[in-house]
Parts: sequence; C-alpha cells; structure tokens
Amino acid sequence: MSTETSKITLGDENFELPILVGTEGERAIDISKFRGSTGYITLDDGYANTGATLSGITYIDGEKGVLRYRGYSIEEIAERCDYTETAYLLIYGELPSGDELEEFRRNIRMHSLLHEGMKTIFAGFPPDAHPMAILSSVVGALAIYCPDALEPSNPQHMELAIYRMLAKMPTIAAFSYKQSIGQPFIYPRNDLNYCQNFLRMMFGVPSEEYVADPDFVDALNLLLILHADHGQNCSTSTVRMVGSSTVNLYSSVSAGICALWGALHGGANEACINMLEEIHAAGGRLGKYIDRAKDPNDDYRLMGFGHRVYKNYDPRAKIIKEICHRLMKKHGMENSIFELAQELEEVALSDSYFIERKLYPNVDFYSGIIYSLMGIPKQMFTVLFALGRLPGWIAHWREMHLAPGGMKIHRPRQLYTGSAQRKFVPLIKR
Ligand code: CMC
Repeated sequence: MSTETSKITLGDENFELPILVGTEGERAIDISKFRGSTGYITLDDGYANTGATLSGITYIDGEKGVLRYRGYSIEEIAERCDYTETAYLLIYGELPSGDELEEFRRNIRMHSLLHEGMKTIFAGFPPDAHPMAILSSVVGALAIYCPDALEPSNPQHMELAIYRMLAKMPTIAAFSYKQSIGQPFIYPRNDLNYCQNFLRMMFGVPSEEYVADPDFVDALNLLLILHADHGQNCSTSTVRMVGSSTVNLYSSVSAGICALWGALHGGANEACINMLEEIHAAGGRLGKYIDRAKDPNDDYRLMGFGHRVYKNYDPRAKIIKEICHRLMKKHGMENSIFELAQELEEVALSDSYFIERKLYPNVDFYSGIIYSLMGIPKQMFTVLFALGRLPGWIAHWREMHLAPGGMKIHRPRQLYTGSAQRKFVPLIKR
C-alpha cells in the first residue's frame, strides 16, 4: 500500500512500523506486529484513535462534514436512490443495473413473512416492553427459525441470510409496535415498496384499507438512506466484533441492535425528543439546560449534539432539517418542538463552549421531529434507526467475512491494573 514507515524509539531500541495510506490520503500506522516485536501494547480508551479494519464501504471526513457511500456523496444518494438501491450499493459495492435491482427486490419480497410460530414470541412480551428489546430478541430468534442459513462461510447461506434479514426486519419492527398497542399484526404486502409496506404494517388495521401518504413514504425512504451506514460506529463495530466469532448474521445483527439502543448512540433520537419536550413543558427557557450541559460537574448533555467523528455540521442533520421544513410547509403544519429545536441549535452554535468543542447537531437532533410528524411514537424512533442501519451492518459483516486476507476473531488486549498476585484467604478467616 505504501513504502513509508514510522520510527519509534523504546529505551535504546528503534523500531520501524509500516504506514498504510487510504484512498483519500488518510494515514495509519500499522501496529499489528507491534507487541510481537516490542512487547508493548497500545492503549486507546474508547478506540477514538484506533482503526479496527480496512473498509471500502463508507468514507467520512469529520472535519469537513463529508459522508460518502462507496464513493458517492450522501447528498447525491439521498436525492437519486431509494432505500433498497442504497442497500444494494452498500452491500455489494456497486450501483445495481435495472435487472440486478429488480432481482434484489424480488428476493427481499419473497422473504418478508415471519414463521407463524414467531407470533407466540411477541405474545409473551408485556405490552409496555420497549420495541428495541423486542426487536433484538426476535431478530436473535431468527437463528432458531432459519437453521438453513447460519453458516457465513457458505455463500448460499450468506446470501439467503442477507435477503431474510432485509425482508423480515420491517415485519418484526412493525409487529413489535402492534404488540405494544394491542392491535392485530398486519402482514406484509409484496406489491408495495419497502417504505409503503412498512408504514402499512405500522398503521394499517384489518378493517380498513390503508394507503400511506406519499410524502411520508418519501421522508421515510430518505431517513432510512441517511442512517444506512456510518463506518465503524458502536453498533457496526459490535456487529463486526460478534460476527468475527463466525456466528450467524441474525445473532450479529441482534447484538448490533442492542448496541444501537443506548442514548449515546441511536437511542439519542428518542432521548432528544424527550429533552425538547421537557424544555418545552418547562416554558421553553433554554438557559438552564445550556448551563447544565456546560457544567463539568453535571453529566447532563444536549442530546442530538456532538459526534465522535464530525467536528463540523453533520451532513445528515442538514438534510433532515430541510425535510422537516419541506414537510411542514407542504402539510401546513406548525410544530413548536421544531421551533424550539432550531432555537436551541442557534443558541448552542453561538456559545463558546460548543464552538470550542466543535459540537454541532447530529443525525439524531431533527430526525425524531419528522418521525413525530409521521405519527410514529417515540419508542419506535430507534427501531427506525435500526431499520435504516441494517444494510450497513450487513455490508460490514459481509465485507469482514470476504476480506482477502481472511478474517480474524476480534480480541483486544488490556492493561491490567488490578491486584498483584496475592494469597487466597479461606472464608473462615475473612
Ligand atoms: N452536550 C454537552 N457537552 C458535550 C456534548 C453534548 N451533547 N457532547 C460532547 N460534549 C463535551 C464533553 O463534555 C467534552 O467536554 P470536555 O472536553 O470539557 O470534557 C467534549 O465535549 C468532548 O466530548 P466527548 O464525550 O469526549 O466526545 P465523544 O467523542 O467521546 O462523544 C458523543 C461523542 C456523541 C457520545 C457525545 O457528543 C454525546 O454524548 N452526545 C450526545 C448524545 C448523542 O447525541 N448521541 C448521538 C451521536 S450521533 C448518532 C449515533 O451515533 O447514533
């Protein structure tokens, strides 16, 4: 990749480490043989400076606010692709031809039903169960119901598992909502597109015909695309970590869903609306909340603000904010929470605390507002993030398994700081 090396001196000894250069000129010091030759490990709490893999899926320049899927800018993908086309691009690396896309969609449609036995799993959950917990449990259970596609090393299993995952996730997501409100499950309809079908399964009832609002279908399509991949984020790294043991795709994705749920990751969209509603209910005065977010002795944070990689405006947040404006104008809606969110953004972006730390609105800041406009309940926001992120998880899992040099189990080291060896004290003497 490059003939450059870096030199490191440890005591009296000098070591050379290879330098790898990425497509866009990013540089990495290859430390894979570092411990073997020096006896040292490297330490990087939170992996903020650790490249875990080579990957050809998504490029992010956090300083400039650039995001590209397989080389195409997110702005162009968002404008010109639909979600299944984006999924194909991420998973297989190229934009599909018309025939390839049709076949991909047909394969997904063929697998959208769940085994009838799976309905009993939903029935066992209490009505107030969080849909993210249901989603991860039922996706995990796919490994029980799909025993014929568990082996990542078998190409047919891999393809079948990918179609099944993409096809069944919307059905599981919608069923988890129906279960929570006590309505009958609405089965998928294969003549509808991915987003129309999902909205019908969410909002349809057996007693009436349901036709999704085309503006909401478009908005959902866009939101899913914007969430589809984002490099080695927490949930994708989890999918890779779990998948590196060679476990099946369903189990790997189920683990990714659990990682996404947390409020510092995908759960921030739900946490953000809760925060905005709390500020609104308290009279909309921002000062107290901004002060708390800035206070080093208070762990309160502005939800939907800040990002590990973006030190500039998140390009996805920019697009989502525009859709909010467009939808509201078209539907003649007013939304005091959206007004408040914009005010909060303005105040934060002119405050030196946020300026110095380069904290901008992220993808989760405005997405919940659109979901609310569409009638989607708060608890389902992170489920929609999961639905959107699914092609990225699959693409990374597949890329890892097909890596030219083979796959290694992920197994970081640690610097042990516990007790030194000591003598065991029998219970009677403690
Ligand atoms: N509000 C107030 N202060 C913040 C915030 C925030 N939202 N985010 C970061 N900071 C401060 C933080 O206190 C620290 O200050 P100091 O240097 O004085 O100690 C500094 O900014 C750097 O923060 P960090 O925690 O070291 O940054 P990180 O890269 O580890 O964390 C983050 C990134 C996204 C977890 C964090 O910005 C955060 O907690 N944001 C709120 C939750 C959120 O919106 N999450 C969604 C992330 S985007 C989509 C996704 O991944 O799902």
